[in-house]
Parts: sequence; structure tokens; C-alpha cells
Amino acid sequence: MSLTMIGDVKIPIVGLGTWQSTDEEELVKALDAALEIGYRHIDTAAIYKNEHVIGKVLKKWLTSGKLKREDLFITTKLPHTHIHADEVESQLKQSLEKLQLDYVDLYLIHFPIYLKSVGDGKPTEPQPTDHLAVWKKMEEQVDAGRTRTIGVSNFAIHQIDRIIKNCRIRPANTQVELQVYNQQKELREYCKKNNIVVVSYSSLGSPGTPAFMKKMGRDITVPNILGDPLITEIAKKYGKTTGQIILRYITQNDIVVIPKSVKPDRLKENFNILDFKLEPEDLKALESLDKGEDGRIFRMDYGPKFVEHPEYPFRR
Ligand SMILES: NC(=O)c1ccc[n+]([C@@H]2O[C@H](COP(=O)([O-])OP(=O)(O)OC[C@H]3O[C@@H](n4cnc5c(N)ncnc54)[C@H](OP(=O)(O)O)[C@@H]3O)[C@@H](O)[C@H]2O)c1
Repeated sequence: MSLTMIGDVKIPIVGLGTWQSTDEEELVKALDAALEIGYRHIDTAAIYKNEHVIGKVLKKWLTSGKLKREDLFITTKLPHTHIHADEVESQLKQSLEKLQLDYVDLYLIHFPIYLKSVGDGKPTEPQPTDHLAVWKKMEEQVDAGRTRTIGVSNFAIHQIDRIIKNCRIRPANTQVELQVYNQQKELREYCKKNNIVVVSYSSLGSPGTPAFMKKMGRDITVPNILGDPLITEIAKKYGKTTGQIILRYITQNDIVVIPKSVKPDRLKENFNILDFKLEPEDLKALESLDKGEDGRIFRMDYGPKFVEHPEYPFRR
């Protein structure tokens, strides 16, 4: 099942997330398993440092004739450290080279603040950021055939609106944290009116993040969404897992999901969510879990230079 974006471009409603998939052997196995199961939509980003692995696996599938390029939907993203007009084209070319593709299906601006690395071991510094200048270069990538559609990620409504009011090619897509505790109702409403397809990231609550971040010396806690008592009750009623209930709830609201897993059983579980429908009373119960902005997991508020930046997107 797919949703249709601007320009009649179809985006499969269930894709595969690949953030934190950095172990090459593990990711190759996961991608092979996912493609066998039927995944055709893969979400990556330059900062995930795995485009080259995805490229190798896609090349294998494409040259063997098991898949055609047009069967696939591939998203990648302009990295936080290169959100600058002068960098868009070279960054996308680098991503395409690693992915061994002539074009991607969707190219996103990963984050609304341009971060500049200020040297070895030093943190990246937020810089002045000109979305309209960056967008003009994003449009040129569509003209050049390097991407079929363009969009944004982690942008606030007013930031998307500024692009829409000044663009030649409209944003087709926005990718945001969207899970049952942070259901993004206002953004969804805005996107519906403006024909922008929404992709939910961290739909399952990103349970792998604490262990992943610990390796980088950072302590992060995430809510146990998969263990939520109400979702557990609903899961029992349908004979499904809590993960499947969550993913079905989001897709039943016409939102794309891209759950990440490297485990074949979970890949299957997350893909097989379209053979049942949640009843209105259960949709309503799940809707009641929304805490709005208070339910956001990833605030990306790494110090005053972030939160005071004019383009910081997550203000309450
Ligand atoms: N645009 C952005 O700024 C942004 C930010 C975050 C994420 N994303 C994208 O969105 C994707 C998904 O988000 P996410 O990776 O943060 O989190 P997620 O999909 O909510 O959760 C992934 C985690 O849940 C585990 N998992 C997967 N399926 C499961 C299941 N059925 N039951 C129990 N556990 C399960 C995975 O472990 P195993 O792998 O061990 O199964 C992994 O640790 C990312 O991979 C990335 O592509 C984008």
C-alpha cells in the first residue's frame, strides 16, 4: 500500500528505518531479509553512515534482476552539518555515489539548523541558516533528475510555510517524530491542507536509543511505548503485538511508518500490519494517549546555542 505525493509519486506506507544500523554484516542481512519480506521503501541519511552498505545490497538486487529500480523508494537526507546552499548538490552527489544510484525518490533537509563542525573533538556549532537559499538548490536537484521529490525533516509549521510561499517546487513530504505520545495533530492538519505526506519516525518510541547513545557517552531515556498498558490491552483484543497496533494506528491515519529493525522476525512483524483494521473505539482510545509537545522524545536541545537559534523548531 502506498500514499501519493505531489507529482503522482507513490511512497510505500511501510518502509525500513536504518538509523543506528552501523554494523555492516548485520545491516546486509537485515536488508536482504527486508527485501525478501517485501519492503521496498528504505530510509537512510548521510549521517547514518550506512548509505554505502545499502548501496551494495541494492546493487546486488538490481543487477541480479530480482528488483527493478522503479520498484524501490529510497530516501536520504542532507546532513545537519551541510544545511547550506553551497553544499546541497555536492552532498546529494556523494549520497548517490554511496547508494550506487542515479537518483533517489526523496531528498530531505534533515534538520532546520545548519551545524558547523568547529574542529577536532569540539562540538558542532549552530550557524545562521537560510532555508530559502537551501530550498532553491533542492529544487535544482529535482531539475537535474537526482531526486524525484524533495522535502524537510524536523521543520516547524511556520518553516514549511515560508518555503511553500516562496518555492517553485513544493515540499512533497515531511519526516517528523510521531508516536502515540506525540501525535503531531497540528502539523498533520497543516500537511493535509497542503498536500504534504507525513512520515513518522521513532513510531515505536526508539527503544534502541539509550544503549546506542550510551556508547557515545550520552544518557538518554525514552518512554516504554511498546509496554504501554492501554496498547497492551488493545493488542490482546486483536491478537497482535503492541508494535503492530502502534504501526497500524499511525498508518490508518494515512501516515507513513519507517520502523527500524535488524531482526528478521521483527521485520516481518512490522511489515505485516495492513491485514487488519482498528475499530473506531480503539482509534479513539489510542488518540487519547497524545500529550502533544510534552510527549516529544527528541528535543535536540543541546544547549542554549540550539534552543536560542532562530530556526530551533521545537518550541512549546
Ligand atoms: N529524520 C530524523 O531526524 C530521524 C530521527 C530518528 C529516526 N529517523 C528514521 O526513523 C527510523 C525509525 O526510528 P527509530 O530508529 O528512532 O525508532 P523505532 O523505529 O521507533 O524503533 C527502533 C528500535 O525498536 C526495536 N524494534 C523494532 N521493531 C520492534 C518490534 N516489533 N518489537 C520490539 N522492538 C522493536 C529495534 O531494535 P532491533 O533493530 O534490535 O530490532 C530498534 O532498537 C530510523 O531508523 C530512521 O530511519 C529519522
